[in-house]
Amino acid sequence: ISRDSGTTAVSNKKQPTVTIKEEITILYGSQTGNAQGLSKKAQEELEKNGFKVTVAAMNDFKPNQLKKINQLLIIVSTHGEGDPPDNAIIFHEFLHGKRAPKLENLHYSVLALGDSSYEFFCQVGKEFDRKLEELGATRIYPRFDCDLDYDEPAEQWLEGVIKSLKDSNPAGEPQALKLLSTAPTVSTFSRSNPFKAEVLENLNLNGKGSNKETHHLELSLEGSGLTYKPGDSLGIIPENDPALVDSLLNVLKWGADETVTINKQGEILSLKEALTSHYEITVITKPLLQKVQELLQHPDLDELLEARNETAFRDYIEGRDLLDLIEDFGTWGHSAQEFVSVLRKIPPRLYSIASSYEANPDEVHLTVGTVRYTAHGKNRKGVCSTFCAERISIGDKIPVYIQSNDNFRLPDDPSTPIIMVGPGTGVAPFRAFMQEREEQGASGKSWMFFGDQHFMTDFLYQTEWNQWLNNEVLTKMSVAFSRDGSEKIYVQHRMKEHSKELYSWLEEGAFLYICGDEKNMAKDVHEALIEIIEKEGNVSRTLAEEYLSKLQQQRRYQRDVY
Ligand code: 2AM
Repeated sequence: ISRDSGTTAVSNKKQPTVTIKEEITILYGSQTGNAQGLSKKAQEELEKNGFKVTVAAMNDFKPNQLKKINQLLIIVSTHGEGDPPDNAIIFHEFLHGKRAPKLENLHYSVLALGDSSYEFFCQVGKEFDRKLEELGATRIYPRFDCDLDYDEPAEQWLEGVIKSLKDSNPAGEPQALKLLSTAPTVSTFSRSNPFKAEVLENLNLNGKGSNKETHHLELSLEGSGLTYKPGDSLGIIPENDPALVDSLLNVLKWGADETVTINKQGEILSLKEALTSHYEITVITKPLLQKVQELLQHPDLDELLEARNETAFRDYIEGRDLLDLIEDFGTWGHSAQEFVSVLRKIPPRLYSIASSYEANPDEVHLTVGTVRYTAHGKNRKGVCSTFCAERISIGDKIPVYIQSNDNFRLPDDPSTPIIMVGPGTGVAPFRAFMQEREEQGASGKSWMFFGDQHFMTDFLYQTEWNQWLNNEVLTKMSVAFSRDGSEKIYVQHRMKEHSKELYSWLEEGAFLYICGDEKNMAKDVHEALIEIIEKEGNVSRTLAEEYLSKLQQQRRYQRDVY
């Protein structure tokens, strides 16, 4: 018998019973906002179907409440080397630790997000799924592992979940329907239906002689109904490099005019158009190679795909594109259609928004670092950054959407001090923060740490920072130009130089933000913070780490890293 009077749980091993009068809890772990957006969508669908739903970021959920809930949906992404998003770390640790409770009454299902070009694809989702089962919970619907193009599988998963919840509730009382009418009206433009935004401005922010090229883009949102908050990102759906597409067409046996059907709706494009604007041609993934091998049966490829050759496999795909693959192993498939059938859809790229909507109604600004490098003897180009730098001009229209991200937000109270660490393009959201705080007339102190290679050529938005210092929107600015002196100076060195003051800001309740490179910068800044807290708080390393994770839990330490 369930705790909920009136609904009888029927014992049946194959089809677990669920009492839908119990609320459904959706917990998400989201770094860039995808899992958060899907949770909201799931909530809406479930409410339409009469369920009562609570949604929370994993960090906002008290793990000791787990035993009290009956139905749990987990939507979580995986980052880097199989890591959980920042707002899932604590919950993930709790479940995998000694204090995890037995969860025999819990019914659950997991939706895992990831990127199959990484080795630990959907790892975090897999871990939650396995762990909940181990703790005695019942899986009501199988886990789905989604690649970058997650819309369709996510929808299928949700349909399956809803059906299984309904099936196990023969009573089927209509509930919570009134919730529907409270849903706010939102813009119809989204990831799957992007808005064509006109380019108003496109400038290279770096001076002559710089090693870098960073573009400042201004786009018009007029007529879209789209709005955003500081901390949100803009998704751009880019086009591939036409030179790479031409080289590909040269080695393929089909003509550029050959047509292919690109989706279930039967939309037809020429091979050239499809390779330009629909398919990903710059990244090789394991699932892609496995499908190619089914068509090709190439002995060398077979060898590379053997489980024991994982390192050689990773070394091979790193920095190679579709053209390399064809040059190395030949083309595959009998038809152009068969050839493209193994490719992933070109994923949108997310950029942290560099403007405040309040300060720039109907506009959105971006700070885009151009990616160019050499690998395996060829010059390579970042797809979207070179699309922005080389191929879009004022007056063009490009497909975009807003990706909201609650993991990176100004404090609700404008009098709260903020510390911002954003070297390179990591500066972007802090320009938005300053514009917003200026607009609000916020009274809170603020401190910006910026860094880049050279003062003369790379001080992004220098005049704006000066102005904010002058009009006291910004209280303090510390800069680190790494290649102007004989020794490298980075933002974390400046932080350590000011360790006493920085610590006292934290003690006063400051929020701390980091944006930019994840692999090196954000890790080193995190380490510097631990050292600062150890020194100035006069505590052990363990306690300093606890101090930081507490800040994170209180949302006073937020990261937007990539
Ligand atoms: P570098 O290129 O001279 O190494 C923005 O890209 C700035 O971040 C540059 O000045 C860059 O310095 C610096 N940077 C590189 N690695 C870093 C790290 N691990 N921590 C902090 N800043 C770093």
